[in-house]
Amino acid sequence: MNTEDGVSIMSNNINPPEVDLTVLDEIIEKYKGQRWSLIPLLQEVQEKLGYIPPEAIKQIADGLDIFPSQVQGVISFYTGLYTTPRGKNIVKVCRGTACHVRGGKTILKLVKQNLDLEEGETSPDFEYTLETVACIGVCAIAPNMVINNDNYGQLNPKKVTQIFSSRDQK
Ligand code: FES
Repeated sequence: MNTEDGVSIMSNNINPPEVDLTVLDEIIEKYKGQRWSLIPLLQEVQEKLGYIPPEAIKQIADGLDIFPSQVQGVISFYTGLYTTPRGKNIVKVCRGTACHVRGGKTILKLVKQNLDLEEGETSPDFEYTLETVACIGVCAIAPNMVINNDNYGQLNPKKVTQIFSSRDQK
């Protein structure tokens, strides 16, 4: 299933995790009437809920006294904002030049196999989302990937397998 973010959630029988929309009240109250605060507000909502639920858009717009279409426009424009649930763990594999020449393509293939996901997909249990990025910024230790806030450099097939099997055991 493709979403408006271009992210796909593999079809499954598991519903997305429930979100507690009451956290919105507190965040919106903090920025109430401050139209220029839309981006920090959206970032905060995403930080708390993992994404920006579409049903929150009207409430956010009302709080800032702007149109819902303006909120939607900003969400669509900024690549880091999402309106669909993502995995608990975000895996970003680098496909920049430095990583590519040091086997990045193989690393990406192995990560896909380990997670059973394609780029942009989220696993049915919402454990993982797989993405690729242009450069992680640590080209000297290419090839690289990041899982949440942890960088894994100088990757090779063995290391990739170890990383995912040790995560599976947690
Ligand atoms: S190209 Fe991969 S970290 Fe820079």
